[in-house]
Amino acid sequence: MGKLIGFLLLISSLFFSLVVAADWNILNQGKKNINGVVGDGLKKYCESWRINVEVNNIRGFDVVPQECVEYIRKYMTSSQYKADSERALEEVALYLSGCCCTLEGDGKDAWIFDVDDTLLSTIPYFKKHGFGGEKLNATSLEAWMKESKAPALEHTLKLFHDIKDRGFKIFLISSRRETLRSSSVDNLIKVGYHGWTSLLLRGLEDEFMEVQKYKSEARHRLIDEGYRIWGIVGDQWSSFEGLPVPKRTFKLPNSMYHI
Ligand SMILES: *[C@@H]1O[C@H](CO)[C@@H](O)[C@H](O)[C@H]1NC(C)=O
Repeated sequence: MGKLIGFLLLISSLFFSLVVAADWNILNQGKKNINGVVGDGLKKYCESWRINVEVNNIRGFDVVPQECVEYIRKYMTSSQYKADSERALEEVALYLSGCCCTLEGDGKDAWIFDVDDTLLSTIPYFKKHGFGGEKLNATSLEAWMKESKAPALEHTLKLFHDIKDRGFKIFLISSRRETLRSSSVDNLIKVGYHGWTSLLLRGLEDEFMEVQKYKSEARHRLIDEGYRIWGIVGDQWSSFEGLPVPKRTFKLPNSMYHI
């Protein structure tokens, strides 16, 4: 994992330095000003902001930088976002069909999913709330979640059933609060998810705990119950960090918020 990220960072820094080197040509300066270098520079700035969120260099931001809100809106509603998500899930399928993923078949093979922006999409909510450009308002977000109208992320839905059919026990570990249980279950079932083993939500005692700690403690309990965690699919780094470490993690893109 660390090696892979290091490699990706190396490649991306090489890429960016090549781009910078190609851009840096004094003979082109006049021409570039005419062609509106400002717009291009902003796009690059926002793209590198987004990539650095994805690789977990930029953490704990409250809002998307104001100048990048439009860029993030475009990305999160683009076919690129869809392609990036599909690619991540294809890697899950590849892992599952590989040699190293032979289940023991004793009912203790577990797989973990996040809920928001992994199984269900919050994009309809963020469309009305500035795509991360406004500080997250828990009251209005929870009111929206209570309506149980979040659409499924189609490719995760397909993968969810594929994983279930292979004999994994599926655990949904969400940072949603316990008070949202029935609306969450309604929403999940309405869009086609069913047959999970357990939906873990944040109880009163977990609410003041960091999300990362809450999620790693939930994994601890699964291990204590004898489960083997084969993988996690999530859109937040807090779903993967800390102990115990699963065999594999698969990150879906999300640059609207960071929890
Ligand atoms: C958060 O949302 C609620 C419900 O929509 C609203 O009443 C409240 O004023 C909002 N809070 C902030 C800080 O914007």
